[in-house]
Amino acid sequence: MCGIIGISSNKPVSANIINSLKKLEYRGYDSAGIATLSDGEINEVKSEGRVDNLENNFDLKNLRGNIGIGHVRWATHGIPNSLNAHPHSSHNVSVVHNGIIENSTILKKHLINKGHNFKSQTDTEVIVHLITEHLKTLELEEAITKTLKQLHGSFALGIVFKDMPDLIVGARRGSPLAVGYGPNENYLGSDSYALKSMTNKITYLDDGEFCIVKKDQVLFFNEEGKKVNKKILELSSDQANYDKGDFKHFMAKEIEEQPLTIKTGIKEYVDNVNKDINIFNFPWKIEEINSITLIGCGTAYHSCLMAKYWFEELTNLDVNIDIASEFRYRKNRFKKDTLYIFVSQSGETADTYAALDICNKNSMKTCAVVNVIESSIARDSNFVLPIHCGPEIGVASTKAFLGQILVLYILALKLGSMRNEIEKKEYQEKIKDLKALPGLIEKTLLHDNDIQAISSTFNEAKGSMFLGRGYSYPIALEGALKLKELSYVHAEGYPAGEMKHGPLALIEEGMPVVVLAPRDNYYKKTISNMQEVIARGAKVLLITNKSKDEVVSENIWETIEVENTNDDLLPFLLTIPLQKLAYYSALKKGYDIDKPRNLAKSVTVE
Ligand code: AGP
Repeated sequence: MCGIIGISSNKPVSANIINSLKKLEYRGYDSAGIATLSDGEINEVKSEGRVDNLENNFDLKNLRGNIGIGHVRWATHGIPNSLNAHPHSSHNVSVVHNGIIENSTILKKHLINKGHNFKSQTDTEVIVHLITEHLKTLELEEAITKTLKQLHGSFALGIVFKDMPDLIVGARRGSPLAVGYGPNENYLGSDSYALKSMTNKITYLDDGEFCIVKKDQVLFFNEEGKKVNKKILELSSDQANYDKGDFKHFMAKEIEEQPLTIKTGIKEYVDNVNKDINIFNFPWKIEEINSITLIGCGTAYHSCLMAKYWFEELTNLDVNIDIASEFRYRKNRFKKDTLYIFVSQSGETADTYAALDICNKNSMKTCAVVNVIESSIARDSNFVLPIHCGPEIGVASTKAFLGQILVLYILALKLGSMRNEIEKKEYQEKIKDLKALPGLIEKTLLHDNDIQAISSTFNEAKGSMFLGRGYSYPIALEGALKLKELSYVHAEGYPAGEMKHGPLALIEEGMPVVVLAPRDNYYKKTISNMQEVIARGAKVLLITNKSKDEVVSENIWETIEVENTNDDLLPFLLTIPLQKLAYYSALKKGYDIDKPRNLAKSVTVE
């Protein structure tokens, strides 16, 4: 999952390309590079690491050329170094690529036999040489059409040509790509986020399409090379402020923003007058839905698991959940009365998008729960439920997780009420409790110093466990994922009742174990599981909710009490201390919190 940008203008483009690349770094930060065209030459500069590195290594201010492409990399083929950095160029073609070419080895052999010399270990370089080869005998559109047909796998491409210095070719299959329109210049970019500082007029390419971008014209073609007309979309302006403000990291800001983002989400869906929930334009009759399948990856999958508990409890429907990368290759049986819900912050995650594509091809009911409403998953779903969190920049998802489970809870409540599975009084009671949630999150965020103090224990340990039962189990998984992502220590989330069936063997003197034991139906069982690990010497951090009753257990290392609310909503509050634990553990280690190693915000390759 890399980020690509291209600009065709009547003025030098390197400064704007650099700015856009900095915005795209959430997609990859292993290396960065630019290629511009001037005086009949391709000017290619690239280096390992962040865009700042590129700026330090090259005098980009004087990089000439009114047309150019840029790239930030997340390495898939070939180690992160300047040789494998993009752009990759031949004597007359230069390419930036996001995706994976699965048949690159065969194509490379074929091209080497034709006398092409390869410099890098990347799959991308075959594209450069294929186009170079076809341009020997074919016109531009034919050379592009033929090349794209020979490529297996996924790609979003930006291509410039020494002999055609007024145009950029863009092409898409699987990985997102958009065109932006400006005054006397036009743009190509991985997503609206990269283009937003330059324009709010955008056209998204669909799979199999390519385009030719000139400073005063953009043409679109289908995979047969036939011209096609495309709609220009006006981007919403609600995603303005991308800066950290006074916070050290975007993640810290996004954690503290949660009372507001949850308040916004509730405002969007809760009808205060009628004490009801409005899911506007819900396209299906409730009788048409007899089961639900939720699909996502990583944190979004944890949201699906959390929602499974709520949907089963509140709607009495059959509920299945799936990890998208498994779902897409399994032999699924599709039932007409199943509602498929795709959960994704970015709306561009390749595996989740592919799972949606399979469901669309089987004419299933598809609903997207996303943060980026212009994303591919939103555009290709029958129905979209935005989570209204604003941009989430930190790679480790925080406010988007809470935003996802909020919208999923609201949908479960509404469907439960539409199916008469919830009494009206209880329904309105739950809506009342929901409206109090932002204030409770605010209070729970006050737990700070206590979490800072204990975070180093998790850093020093060989590993740690996060345990929960019922509604707390998905939160235990999420807490463990956050610690892994940010402080690179091994952490495992586990159903507390499962410990005796193996993982208990991992427990040794001083091992930190987080036990989520809110005073809900699972409380007593979870406390006895807690005592099992304490008996083996574990250092238990107990997270529960405030209560007048003492916790009946000895040798608890630390206890954090979150605010009180109904059992349905306790998972929101239990999540907060876990986000902060991961944040402070990483802070103590001095790691790059917003851009953890080996990760990226939007995984657009499988
Ligand atoms: C979460 O902190 C991670 N960044 C990752 O697990 C993420 O949730 C996953 O890649 C799914 O992303 P999405 O929500 O944009 O689809």
